Amino acid sequence: MRKILVLGSINIDHSYELERIVRPGETVASRAYRTAWGGKGLNQAIALAKAGARTALAAQLSKADMPGLETLCAPFGLDISGVRGLDCPSGHAIIQVESSGQNSIIIAAGANGLMEDATISAIDQYGPGDMLLLQNEVNRMPEIIRRGKERGMTVILNPSPCTEDMLDWPLELVDIFILNETEGEYISGSSQVEEMLDILSTKFPAAGIVLTLGAQGSVYRRGEEEHRAAALKVEAVDTTAAGDTYTGYFLAGLSQGKAVKESMELATRAAAVTVSRPGAAESIPLAEEILQAAGIE
Ligand code: RIB
Repeated sequence: MRKILVLGSINIDHSYELERIVRPGETVASRAYRTAWGGKGLNQAIALAKAGARTALAAQLSKADMPGLETLCAPFGLDISGVRGLDCPSGHAIIQVESSGQNSIIIAAGANGLMEDATISAIDQYGPGDMLLLQNEVNRMPEIIRRGKERGMTVILNPSPCTEDMLDWPLELVDIFILNETEGEYISGSSQVEEMLDILSTKFPAAGIVLTLGAQGSVYRRGEEEHRAAALKVEAVDTTAAGDTYTGYFLAGLSQGKAVKESMELATRAAAVTVSRPGAAESIPLAEEILQAAGIE
């Protein structure tokens, strides 16, 4: 089984349940409030580990939050020896979740925005055949992409959230992009799905492009190869971490030698379970729970 290193963010999520997402100038009372573990790096690492992939996380957070992270990750074997506690606040997110399950998120970088050499150097323990999974919630991203490639790793980028500087990154070094329609539009300049796929695969001819399209399912394109997975009909409670679950389960499938289409279908089922529960990291299902949800014991 291939080893996967996730180098990314850890956030403390502050989630507010509302009838609908707040409009400019409005003050709204929330129906419920909770704090929970999140951050795209942590969520995706947890999804990989819960799916049974050999996963390690390299990240930064406040020293004070380290014991809580250890308790969270211990049960499913996520290697957090590359997570470093710093004397600064952890990153956090303010999340509004409306009754349709849709969300709106603000992030504040905290320790995620202060990436140190000692954290990034976790990459040097990996080599050809290993995977490096990245998002866009930590700083020094161009350097991190180059370092992974220099080690001969397969570099996977979930370009979320999109930022202006991203178009100047060495994106030609990325082996697999996993992105949603908004991110696809940002990088391709087109809002039409088929055109978006054409532009992305022309721009990055050697890369695999996985485009997640919500109710329209997901599409994989690499050169002439194309696969599509249909979405599942689910009653969404909270869509937070749905994309992270898809990303983690898709890559876990590939790392375990599953075919692309099978990995996409597994990822779709896992994300459907995540949206049926509140929260981020903790709402991600274990592989057994996905089989149970599909009625397979
Ligand atoms: O993708 C969901 C995540 O985005 C949340 O957990 C939040 O922390 C932000 O990083």
